Amino acid sequence: MPDREYVIDPMISAKTIAARIEALSREIGAAFAGTEKLVVVGLLRGSFVFIADLVREIDMPVEVDFLEATSYGNAMESSREVRILKDLRGKIEGRDVLVVEDIVDTGHTLKHVLGLLAARNPARLKSIALLDKPSRRETDIRADWIGFEIPDEFVVGYGIDFAQRNRNLPYIGKVRFV
Ligand code: PRP
Repeated sequence: MPDREYVIDPMISAKTIAARIEALSREIGAAFAGTEKLVVVGLLRGSFVFIADLVREIDMPVEVDFLEATSYGNAMESSREVRILKDLRGKIEGRDVLVVEDIVDTGHTLKHVLGLLAARNPARLKSIALLDKPSRRETDIRADWIGFEIPDEFVVGYGIDFAQRNRNLPYIGKVRFV
């Protein structure tokens, strides 16, 4: 349980998110035109809502897989150790792969995951993040598609949690301590 009381101020509505996903899905469909079956990889847990909405808008055959990573901050070195808790079920060698993130913050998670998957020799490896906080970046990574660029705010909802709460909000909200 968070030890401080907070309220959630709406930031990006469910309708705005849906419209953006529709547009992104069209771009993804065009980029992967001709791909027999796209492997869409969701990074657990935060991406579970985004990937569910995204794949239902992508008008081509997809295979859905999941990977769970966790990272340990190291303030002294400004670096993070990323560990894989759950690996993919399927093989991606020679396949076209789209990695789906809810949010890119420092970028350590996405950078590590893309490095790991690239080593498995996919045909193409692309990434999409619903939210991007460029001001927090500690790596040289950027997703190929980004839903919304946001300032350094504490956000929740649409899969994103605060101490394992608020993932089920249908919109993105900003945490405000009261
Ligand atoms: C969050 C988020 C991203 C990562 C982004 O995951 O879902 O995966 O952090 O941070 P980074 O760019 O600084 O690496 P978290 O570890 O909170 O796990 P969760 O997805 O299970 O909530």
